Amino acid sequence: MPLELTVNGDRYELDVPVLTTLAEALREDLGLTGTKVACGEGHCGACTVLLDGAPTLSCITLARAVGGREVTTIEGLRDHPLVDAFVRADALQCGFCTPGQIVSAAALVERIPSPSHEEIRHEMSGNLCRCGAYPKIEEAIRSRHGSARGGQAALAGFPRGRDER
Ligand code: FES
Ligand code: FES
Repeated sequence: MPLELTVNGDRYELDVPVLTTLAEALREDLGLTGTKVACGEGHCGACTVLLDGAPTLSCITLARAVGGREVTTIEGLRDHPLVDAFVRADALQCGFCTPGQIVSAAALVERIPSPSHEEIRHEMSGNLCRCGAYPKIEEAIRSRHGSARGGQAALAGFPRGRDER
């Protein structure tokens, strides 16, 4: 039976094996390669996407487990003010963790518009950066301006708390 997925507002039907992860379906079947896979074991946050607005690790989530829910990837947040804020704050080096950082940060500022240092550290703790860009990532989150223009549908119902962290 085909899998029905809604990603960044678009609906897809995929015929994927039962053990296909959401990250694999996004990257290999839909060509949405903005979502990165680093550890592949649920430890680093590089593969973070939003499921109904909640940060979720797509490398350890089966694609067939998310049918009927709204998936938002970094591609769906391309117009989010955080993207510009990360560039302006120079909040990246190699950039491999950056899509996951922005996705998690988008959920954070949707829930807490002006997060404190402690709230940023806590809410972003699942996103590792091997380049150690943490101070600038925090600066980017604090310095962003404007309101989110992308992924609003997914973020509208963002619940409190995090999934699968
Ligand atoms: S790649 Fe998914 S948590 Fe590291
Ligand atoms: S910018 Fe290189 S891992 Fe974060």
